[in-house]
Amino acid sequence: MSEPLVLGIETSCDETGVGIVRGHTLLADAVASSVDEHARFGGVVPEVASRAHLEAMVPTIERACETAGIALHDVDAVAVTNGPGLAGALLVGVAAAKALALGLGKPIYGVNHLASHVAVDQLEHGPLPEPCVAMLVSGGHSSLLRVSDVTGQDGGVDPMGQTIDDAAGEAFDKVARLLGLPFPGGPYIDKAAREGDSVFIDFPRGLTSRRDLERHRFDFSFSGLKTAVARWVEAKERAGEPVPVKDVAASFQEAVCDVLVRKALDAASSEGIEDLLIGGGVAANSRLRFLAEERAEKLGIRVRVPRPGLCTDNGAMVAALGAEMVARGRTPSSLDLPADSSLPVTEVLAG
Ligand code: KG4
Ligand code: ZN
Repeated sequence: MSEPLVLGIETSCDETGVGIVRGHTLLADAVASSVDEHARFGGVVPEVASRAHLEAMVPTIERACETAGIALHDVDAVAVTNGPGLAGALLVGVAAAKALALGLGKPIYGVNHLASHVAVDQLEHGPLPEPCVAMLVSGGHSSLLRVSDVTGQDGGVDPMGQTIDDAAGEAFDKVARLLGLPFPGGPYIDKAAREGDSVFIDFPRGLTSRRDLERHRFDFSFSGLKTAVARWVEAKERAGEPVPVKDVAASFQEAVCDVLVRKALDAASSEGIEDLLIGGGVAANSRLRFLAEERAEKLGIRVRVPRPGLCTDNGAMVAALGAEMVARGRTPSSLDLPADSSLPVTEVLAG
């Protein structure tokens, strides 16, 4: 049998993603984003996102099939993100996937959004090195995972650490807002920082003091940093002085990336693991990529980062994990699989 043709559906946040893969080969990655509709609120509005998914679902499926040059009945299996994410948004994707699986008479795999962010790298760089340490950084999550089996078998996805307050992307978005930059702020900070001075302000590095490291060695905290930036900007404004946006952006970005890279490499070293994978929207950050590669090289650790379009939420990542489920002979999910907004990272495949 040729490699399985899998269609994946992603609707956990504001991107309606439909991807089609054959094994490790990406055939289509159609994404419709409602990000513009959320921009004026400075964050994703769940009800707006759910409605947008409903409207975008069928056209996005059609677009993906057209790009891949396949008909729906060619698909061997359907995969869908069943959590974690926004409850109403997840429901739209899960309902669509169930309808497809039922209508086509094909198996369905309800998969974890976080493990999908890891699996997607296979589409670009080939089979995953297992075990590896995966750092997932986006608007909704910041976690360090030890991945020995991306399909989750026998504790294959094991959480080592996570944020104790804001997610990394959330910090980028909030600081961008403070600086008067558009939403989502990550790409704008990235761009502004290129012309700024990263040592202009020595912003705090969360959870890196000796005492914090005892309890939170692999955890992150970005809310103190966000407050420090807010105080710094307010002080400037109160003094009637202009805010040096590029320098603040560069100094803030340096504080985030420094901590992320330090902790990710410490996690890999502590486990004797030589491969670090970075995923999620923030993995598109140019400074993060540079710092990770520069410091990893000195430790003999290899870094894998998917290209930016595969780092942000998309359907191809779900299809990639679904294809891996098929390839490793995992039992498909039941047709009554639930959407679970707080699905633990350890639950990779729904029963
Ligand atoms: O993975 P993603 O598309 O959606 C979530 O699951 O959240 O990530 C979106 C997040 C946003 O917070 C955005 O500001 C951030 O990723 N982001 C970036 C960059 N591009 C996107 N953050 C820093 N630098 C970037 N270049
Ligand atoms: Zn995500």
